[in-house]
Amino acid sequence: MQFDRRHILITGASGGIGAALARQFAGERAQLLLHGRNAEALKALADQCHELGSPRALICSADLSTPQGRQQLVSCVEQEFPQLDTLVNNAGISCFQLFEQQSPDAIEQLINTNISAPILLTRGLIQKLLQAQGEAPLILNIGSAFGAIGFPGYSTYCASKGALRLFSEALAREYTDTRLRVQYLAPRATRTAINSEQASAMTAATGGHIDSPEVVARAAVKLMRSGRAQAAIGWPEKLLVRLNGLRPELISQVLSKQLGKIKGFANQPHTGA
Ligand SMILES: NC(=O)c1ccc[n+]([C@@H]2O[C@H](COP(=O)([O-])OP(=O)(O)OC[C@H]3O[C@@H](n4cnc5c(N)ncnc54)[C@H](OP(=O)(O)O)[C@@H]3O)[C@@H](O)[C@H]2O)c1
Repeated sequence: MQFDRRHILITGASGGIGAALARQFAGERAQLLLHGRNAEALKALADQCHELGSPRALICSADLSTPQGRQQLVSCVEQEFPQLDTLVNNAGISCFQLFEQQSPDAIEQLINTNISAPILLTRGLIQKLLQAQGEAPLILNIGSAFGAIGFPGYSTYCASKGALRLFSEALAREYTDTRLRVQYLAPRATRTAINSEQASAMTAATGGHIDSPEVVARAAVKLMRSGRAQAAIGWPEKLLVRLNGLRPELISQVLSKQLGKIKGFANQPHTGA
């Protein structure tokens, strides 16, 4: 994979993992379209990417949870970034909260942002990706360890990331007879604004490890270079994901012992980041 020939769109580039991905790709001299909602943060990131070696770093601000916002981004690609060959579906929100405390509006927003948006954005850009010249076009979906392990307090988030994981797997298989490659990366807890104070405190209290966004960005580049369909980050999470697939009752036993502690953090009048 030669990043210096790539034209990469990163959604959610204004956030922790998205910005780290942008800096990593910029260091490899890729051309970038940086998406988010926060235009100021995107402008500052674009300047940084130029300094790091990206010959071109454009920005587009749009709310992907709405059809208008998604259309805005597709139009931006068509008009300003027609050489697109790599789509990184990274934008997302989280919610660490007891299920009965999650408002229907918050649930709808999470499903829109984390699963409807990446699927519909991919649908809007698939022809352009299939027609891309040069190296094999690529879609990288940023999922989560919680896309494979149902975790108390994260019911809606787990549902969205589990759906993204299967979307990625099905799409990868559907396009095996084309040049398009579809990959799925599952980070574990990562130090970004997506995690509320309670979520970070729960991770620490239950012995979970928290990565830096740069660890995720390096893992993304490694996955893209490998051509593999999926990768997870970190031990013991990689093992737990596999074990949950084979013997979910063992993971249920472990989590039931920690349930009181987890519920203590999740039982808060907050909506998460
Ligand atoms: N951090 C973790 O612990 C962790 C672990 C596993 C997986 N992940 C996944 O990694 C991805 C990036 O998360 P992060 O940790 O970097 O979180 P973050 O710092 O909060 O960044 C989230 C990004 O998504 C964008 N976004 C959210 N809602 C949007 C909307 N409606 N329209 C357009 N953009 C929207 C945000 O844009 P604005 O800044 O402009 O609002 C921001 O750029 C997510 O998919 C997340 O689920 C994170």
